[in-house]
Amino acid sequence: MDPVALDQLINAALAAQRRAYAPYSRFAVGAAAMVADGHIFSGANIENASYPLTICAERVALFCAHMAAAGPVTALAIVTPTPTVASPCGACRQVIFELAPRAQIILLNADGSERRFTTPAELLPYGFGPDQLEAQGR
Ligand code: THU
Repeated sequence: MDPVALDQLINAALAAQRRAYAPYSRFAVGAAAMVADGHIFSGANIENASYPLTICAERVALFCAHMAAAGPVTALAIVTPTPTVASPCGACRQVIFELAPRAQIILLNADGSERRFTTPAELLPYGFGPDQLEAQGR
């Protein structure tokens, strides 16, 4: 990935992290999804007093990108408030597999000093996706 675009994406994820609403876990996550024309859609985790209603940063970013009809997501950066990189929860892996199947995934620790590059298929091996439904004629 182009280093300038990568820096922009990482900065967007760090900025998004500051919008996290995480009064219960105090674990602020930021995500930023880039599409082919360079536009970036960002998201943060948004918690709720009814805990299960919480939504993760990755899904906020990917749903925003989808709603903008801006085309395929080419890269997704995720920053967690951890000393070393953490990886997305299972629910987000499933959504990444569906909405950003060809994206370059970049995982970052709290200060961005550690970066791990991965892919949707690596995060969700043998993932269930649209292909399985199509095989059933749906
Ligand atoms: N969280 C995310 O935003 N993304 C993940 O992939 C893992 C977890 C959020 C959900 C919750 O608000 C907090 O982190 C602690 O689980």
